[in-house]
Amino acid sequence: MSDGPGSDAHADETRDDAPRDSRRMFFALWPDAETRVRLARATKDAVRRSGGRPIAKDRFHVTVAFLGNLTPAGFEIASAVPPIPVGAFTLVLDTIGAFASSRTLWLGSRSVPPALVELERRLWEALAAKGFIREERIYRPHVTLARRARVVDEEIVRVEWPVAELALVESLPDGRNVHYEPLRSWPL
Ligand code: 2AM
Repeated sequence: MSDGPGSDAHADETRDDAPRDSRRMFFALWPDAETRVRLARATKDAVRRSGGRPIAKDRFHVTVAFLGNLTPAGFEIASAVPPIPVGAFTLVLDTIGAFASSRTLWLGSRSVPPALVELERRLWEALAAKGFIREERIYRPHVTLARRARVVDEEIVRVEWPVAELALVESLPDGRNVHYEPLRSWPL
């Protein structure tokens, strides 16, 4: 989410303000190829109507914990935190929303599964014990669909995403875009 206060969340010993060897990381739910296709199909019209710049389906994900720029040591510490065994669950994505302040169009859930709420809480509890600092805003799980978008009021075909893993993902510059690279994953 990008409409809240603050920027990168990280602990002093893991922070790297000189970006030379720092790596931008986040924990996420990372869909399989088939779920990506279903997400893209279900949201195509809403994205078009929003007039925004679409996010390619290869980049679809739900962030669970944004860590920001990590030092190599910070990366090792974060990687040692999972697994968080809350059990596999189904994430039903059935509503289009927008963060007006950042003109972001997203796909979310009318009803967030308790397992996802627990996953975010327990992951941050474990990260906090290692010195990572969570931003204070409320967790609103979403798949970002487009940027510089207008708000649209669109009914969509719901997508059921079977979630069985937590991934640690790196955000890498890719020309004028970013590329997301899942580095490791753990069963839930
Ligand atoms: P967004 O899609 O709503 O912008 C990689 O940047 C992922 O981490 C994105 O899903 C992004 O959410 C999320 N994220 C959460 N907090 C962030 C922050 N402070 N800065 C950048 N991205 C953040």
